[in-house]
Amino acid sequence: MKPPFYCLIMLFLMACFNGFSAWAADGSRGALVAKARCATCHHLNRSTPLIGPSLQGIFNRKPSITGVPFSRWGEKELDAWINNPRAIKPNTKMHTPPIAARDRADLIAYFKGI
Ligand code: HEC
Repeated sequence: MKPPFYCLIMLFLMACFNGFSAWAADGSRGALVAKARCATCHHLNRSTPLIGPSLQGIFNRKPSITGVPFSRWGEKELDAWINNPRAIKPNTKMHTPPIAARDRADLIAYFKGI
């Protein structure tokens, strides 16, 4: 017997729903990404600089560095910077390998809480 068409629709919707929830930004995963990818150069839980400025309270903060065309580090700005700092500031000393979109979203979710 063939399954009714609405069963297939339900399965499809469930698959989509799971897919999307896997994509919801996850701050606790972001904490791990930050430790692995940012903490060599940035303090995450104290305000003093390391190789780069501290990232504590970075979300919505004014840039402390010169040469970036932003007034605040919001989601869009952080995402663009982490994705490719040199596209924004060609002579920046922040050299980082590319970071996946999901990792960037999780990082930003983490930064909202520190
Ligand atoms: C190799 C060292 C290094 C790594 C790794 C690194 N950064 Fe940086 N970062 C820097 C330096 C150096 C600066 C200052 C850049 C400048 O003045 O142009 C900086 C600047 C920044 C700024 C601007 C801060 C401010 O106060 O305006 C942000 C935001 C930032 N980094 C985020 C990150 C994030 C998020 C990661 C991890 C994904 C990361 N960085 C990884 C070296 C690094």
